[in-house]
Amino acid sequence: MSNFKSLPGFREFYPEAFAERRFIFQIWRQVARRFGFQEFDGPVLESLDLFKAKSGDEIESQLFCFEDKGGREVSLRPELTPTLARMVAARANALKRPIKWFSIGDNFRYERTQKGRLRCFTQLNADILGEAGPAAELELISLLIQTLQGFGLGQDDFFIRLSDRNLWMLYLAAQGYEADSPKILEIVDKWERMPEEAAREKLGGIAGERDSALWESIDAFLKVRDLAELSKAFASFAGETDASESLQARLDDWNVLLDGLEAMGLAGFVEMDLSIVRGLAYYTGFVFEAFDRAKENRALAGGGRYNDLIKKMGGPDMPAVGFGMGDVVLADILKERGIMPKFVDTVDAYLVIGGDAERAAALADANALRQSGFSVDYPFKDQGFGKQFKAASAAGARFALIYGSEELEKGVVKLRDLNDRSEEDIPRERLLLELRERLG
Ligand code: HAM
Repeated sequence: MSNFKSLPGFREFYPEAFAERRFIFQIWRQVARRFGFQEFDGPVLESLDLFKAKSGDEIESQLFCFEDKGGREVSLRPELTPTLARMVAARANALKRPIKWFSIGDNFRYERTQKGRLRCFTQLNADILGEAGPAAELELISLLIQTLQGFGLGQDDFFIRLSDRNLWMLYLAAQGYEADSPKILEIVDKWERMPEEAAREKLGGIAGERDSALWESIDAFLKVRDLAELSKAFASFAGETDASESLQARLDDWNVLLDGLEAMGLAGFVEMDLSIVRGLAYYTGFVFEAFDRAKENRALAGGGRYNDLIKKMGGPDMPAVGFGMGDVVLADILKERGIMPKFVDTVDAYLVIGGDAERAAALADANALRQSGFSVDYPFKDQGFGKQFKAASAAGARFALIYGSEELEKGVVKLRDLNDRSEEDIPRERLLLELRERLG
């Protein structure tokens, strides 16, 4: 074994693993194109500042950052969203809206490597910019669902937890915690993983003597599963007119989104679940995450609205919403369900060459067939027929083309169909047409 091991959290893709990767990218790309998204990419290395301010504390602590040879503080990208926001900000006036873009690329986070969590992973990102209303969320959530369906996953396999940072702000403001809401949402983000005592203690630091009341109101909010329960939760804090107008506007958005999902036949995939608040710093409104139904894996995908980020990047006021889906959790789930296809790279034809005297004719045909788009393989050295036929079947060849001295004298090659073992002499000048007909 060599001492030059790959780094923890960085994968090597041997051909079989690479074929799985190609399959994932293919479905991602296909479905995004079906929804009319355009593909783009940004640099993998950026200035450190881009992520320091924009991604939030958790990601900041995981940056792969260093000083480059020119003395610049740089970082590999931990995510694409800040780059996307900068790119759109720079051309905001020239771009036709709504902007619907997607990207497939590697991201780097210095995380503790574990199941579903690596230091280099690939994400599909899909984002819509320039649309403020919930039609954008509907488009993205339906894209997210159809993408996962494209891999053969269904309603029994995954679901989407839909939440809203705006509702949280309104709820906390109604209780007098407007200024503290970011701190409270940080606690809510860790709620599921935190013992009750620890949560109460942290809230105590904010609410003082009212800590129990705050804990209970958060606990009640986290149990809300539909709009009727939501209205009830708010009713106990009947606020001023301004607040109730904002609440009504939010409820209208929720209704549009839920009705849209219903109309698309996708309502069964989505659950209202206010425990999702998302750790990244820039989210402003609806937020959502896709999960394995068994909840055994970490999130398959996550996203939400980030209406302030384009402006922070020096652009105009432009609403935006999007999500990222990682390839690691997705591949784990496909394998657990036994629905990751087995891939075998095959060739159309394998040339079986009699000897040195026949090699020139075989090379000429190999080159012509390849130029016409057929995949063709042949042995590099003189070998016995038995070995060559073995190699043909190992290569998954559909046909063997036999270049023997007798055949070449007659101006033909013997074509053996490796499925049914039938053989036929084919004039060499007809070879291309014959393969075209047979491979249809
Ligand atoms: P995120 O929730 O940090 O969001 O990542 C999205 C998905 O990427 C996760 O659900 C997970 O599947 C995958 N992922 C994240 N970190 C890792 C890791 N260390 N190893 C393996 N997979 C990982 C974002 O990145 C946002 N920028 C998404 C977004 C786009 N929001 C708006 N537009």
